Formats: sequence, C-alpha cells, structure tokens
Amino acid sequence: MLDKYKSSVVYQIYVKSFCDSNGDGIGDLNGIRSKLQYIKSLGVKYIWLTPFFCSPMIDNGYDVSDYRNINPMFGTMADCEALIREADDIGIGLMFDMVFNHTSDEHEWFKKALTGDPEYMDYYIFRDGREEGKPPVDWTASFGGPAWDYVPSLNKWYLHQFDPKQPDLNWENPKVREELKNVIRFWKNKGVKGFRFDVLNLISKPESFTNQPSGSATRCCKDGRHVHEFIKELVADTGIADMITVGEMASTTIDNVIRYSSPASNELSMCFSFHHLKVDYLNGDKFALMPPDMNMLHDVFRDWQEKVADGGGWNAVFWCNHDQPRIVSRFGDEGQYWKQSAKMLGTFVHLLRGTPYIYQGEELGMTNGHYTGIKQYDDVEAINYYNILLKRGSTESEALNVLANRARDNSRTPMQWNDGKFAGFSSSGAWLDIPENYKSINVEAEERDNDSILNYYRKLVILRGQFRIIADGAVKFIDTGNAKVLAYERTLDGERLVVVCSFSGKEENLPVMLEGDVLIGNYPDRAEVLRPYEAVAVIKY
Ligand code: GLC
Ligand code: CA
Repeated sequence: MLDKYKSSVVYQIYVKSFCDSNGDGIGDLNGIRSKLQYIKSLGVKYIWLTPFFCSPMIDNGYDVSDYRNINPMFGTMADCEALIREADDIGIGLMFDMVFNHTSDEHEWFKKALTGDPEYMDYYIFRDGREEGKPPVDWTASFGGPAWDYVPSLNKWYLHQFDPKQPDLNWENPKVREELKNVIRFWKNKGVKGFRFDVLNLISKPESFTNQPSGSATRCCKDGRHVHEFIKELVADTGIADMITVGEMASTTIDNVIRYSSPASNELSMCFSFHHLKVDYLNGDKFALMPPDMNMLHDVFRDWQEKVADGGGWNAVFWCNHDQPRIVSRFGDEGQYWKQSAKMLGTFVHLLRGTPYIYQGEELGMTNGHYTGIKQYDDVEAINYYNILLKRGSTESEALNVLANRARDNSRTPMQWNDGKFAGFSSSGAWLDIPENYKSINVEAEERDNDSILNYYRKLVILRGQFRIIADGAVKFIDTGNAKVLAYERTLDGERLVVVCSFSGKEENLPVMLEGDVLIGNYPDRAEVLRPYEAVAVIKY
C-alpha cells in the first residue's frame, strides 16, 4: 500500500499570523479552530503548526521554555485539545513542531544549569574558553554574532547556534534524550498525528571543540557524528515510525537525506532541504542579493529529485515557509503575471516526487511585505542583520532593500482573509503590518473567482490524491536548453506525465513535444509556444 504521506499535501500554519480570535492582534489556537473548514476545503490531510508552547518569544516560539504547556498568548491546553479533536473529526492530522536542538534560556533546565548544578549543566554545552576572554572556538551564530556566550559566575562558555537566548542541548547526554522522548510521548498521547523537527541535523556536535575551524557553528555541527543514531533511537523509543515525520535539515547532503528518510533506515518520513532556496544568494550570503541563477535552480532540483529517488529517500517539496520570503515575489512576478506566475510555481512543486507543503497564504499568491522602515520589522534575524549591514558600510536604504527581499517577516505578515479592516485577520489590530494588497489578494476575493490561484491550488492537491503517477511515479528532469524553462517527467506503469514550467515573463519556445491530455495548466488553451510563466502538465497513458 502507498504510504499516506506520499499522496497527501501538508498545510503549514504560522500560528501567530493565521487568525486572531480574541482581538489582541495575535493569531491563536481558537482562530485556527474557526478556520478548519477552510483548510479542509484545500484538500490537505495534515497541518503543521509552528510552535505555540511557552516561550519568551525572542524567536517567535522557536525558543521554548516549557514543551508541555501552551503559551497563554495562543490559548489554553483545552483549546489545544479541542483543536486536535476537531481536526481529527474532519480527517486532518496535526503535526507539532519540536524544537529539540535548543531550548530557551528561560527553560527550567537552563536556569538550573546557570546556578552551577552539574546535572543540568550537562544538559547543555558548557566549555572553558581557550584562553582568557576567548570562546572555545570562533564560531558564528546563525542570527549573527558569536555562537558562544560567557557566563561569568561559572567561568564557562555555552554554545548557541542561534540566538544567545537559545542554548544548544547536549544530545550526547542520555538524560536529555529521555526528556525529549517524554515530550513526544506526551503529545502523541494527546492525539497528535505527526511531528516536524526543527533543525534536526544540528543536534550532534563534534567530539571536541578544539582545533575546529572558525566559521558558522551550523557548518561545523550539521549532520554530526551521532545524528542518525539519535534519530533512530528517538523514533523507535517513542513509537512514531508510522506517523508522518519531517526533519528540517540545514545545509545537508543528498546522501544524508537518503539516510534520514529512506524507510530502510527507520528514521523519518521525509526531510526539508534548502539548496534550491539559495540560488539567489550572492556568494552563498543570504544578505547579499543577486537574481536567481536559473541553471543552478535546475541542477539542484534535478540532483535532489533524481538522486534522492535512486537512494530510496523522500523529500518534502516546497517553496515557502515562515523563514523564506514569498515565492511569487522572489521567482515569480508580482505585477502583470502575478496570477500566472503563482500558479506556475505551484504546479512545479506539486507535481514533483515528494510531499508538497503549502505555507499559509501561498495558495492566495500572497506577496512580500514591502516594508520601508526598520520599525516595521519584528524578527531578531532581520534586526541583527540590519545592524550588521550598516556596520559593513551599507546605507540605510541599501540595508532596507536587502531586508525587503530577504527578511523572514515577509512571510509572517497576517493571513489575508478579506478586504475588511486588518484583512479579516483580527478585529482590532495586527502584530505585524499587513501588505496593502490585501484589498485584492484575500481568501474571499479568490473564493469568488473560479480562475483564482486558490482554486488552482485546490486542483493541484486533488490531483496528487487521484493520480498515483504524481504520488509515486519515477522522476527525471528534461534538459530544455533554456535556463528559464524547467521541465521534468514522471513515469509509472507505462504512463508518462510531462511538466513544463516557464520562469520567464516573455514567450519562450516549447522545449518538448507535448503528447497526451492536459492534466492541468495555467492558461485556458494550448499553444505552439510557452506564454509568460506558463505551466502545463500533460499525461499520456
Ligand atoms: C528553524 C526555524 C526558524 C528558527 C530556527 C531556530 O530554522 O524554522 O524559524 O528561527 O530553526 O530554531
Ligand atoms: Ca489572539
């Protein structure tokens, strides 16, 4: 039997920005409950909820201070249980987000560690400096600045790959692994159907920290020496092997993804990887802009699709999440071809081999925030990098332009439900500014339009459930000879599905003969050429 996750689509909700039920300007669990029928109407089988556990919110909940309780700003345990039950009643499984590489510095374990309690110090990575005033090694943290912080009362440094308020856990300590397993068991008992694991490939650190090269901490910790063992143990001991699980894997490799996700290794159902979302990073620097390198985009997709398939692994396929700018603003066109390009981008991802993820608002073609002042930004990364860019010599307007393209807040703007005040997100305010275009880009407007992006996404989701070739066929990329036109074929039992997607705002030549019936396309008819941002998928039986 085909695994359910292969024929399903997952919808990602950024809780803080989805729907505010009590008018405090912050999305919440009861807001999600009120929108379950909408989510069902998309045809998705799972919802991944970003963390809503107790947290001081310096990284919007990716800094957890209590894994078993609900942050009051999002609701209560009773609300959470009701959400799980009501989703289950309509055939939707909830996936919770487990942030297990680090805790908040306000977690009781870290507080005890700071008192010098050796048992809890061993929950984290405390080390001596290499000399007076110097950290063990010169690593940088993902949000800028050094990855080690000094605690004077202990005369030790602790490791944090992200913010100083997100100390890394010590997975080498079996007690830590047991504690985390208990968190999984707790939520599994409450009826959660799957898990997303935050930056899971960063959990196993090097054996010693001396003689480590300087550079980003993440580069030095990714896919560490015991990571596969740790995941196998976690999955086996908590009995989640048959649930849908996805690991977020920073800068990982194809070989590792095959090991993380092939059924034979008893680790996870699938992985997120990000190489396709770095093709517009100048020299690999997220905060240095360049137009997307389309040849690179093609090569990354070809390699990750074909080689992961050859190795028996499984990808999560996606363009958007709460850490990425909006895809229509990035690889599509916000202007004349907004609709066509958003549909093309959806087509490209949804017909690939892997489990597609839709990030809230992507199904509407929501755009970047277009913020013009630093005060509009909330994200710790955006604010840190703004200052870093200024220090490096950028002018304010240059730095703001970088953020307008790259900041994570671009995807965190409130969900656009209608053209009313606060876009129907809230009755009385929004924690983050809503883009002006909510007047035309919103759920209500797109419900009324048969030809909307929303209704097109619904078709894509249905197709995956209906056509085994989409859920389970082999995949091979087609060399189109045109960097702006990506194409691939899926094959199964003598059937062939060909998908052609133009990332160009002009007419382009059709790179392959399209034989068979049109399964889906973003223009109403067929033509001898590819029109701007055209996507077409044809199937031959
Ligand atoms: C992941 C999350 C991101 C968070 C980081 C640290 O990348 O998706 O939002 O900031 O981990 O937890
Ligand atoms: Ca609220």
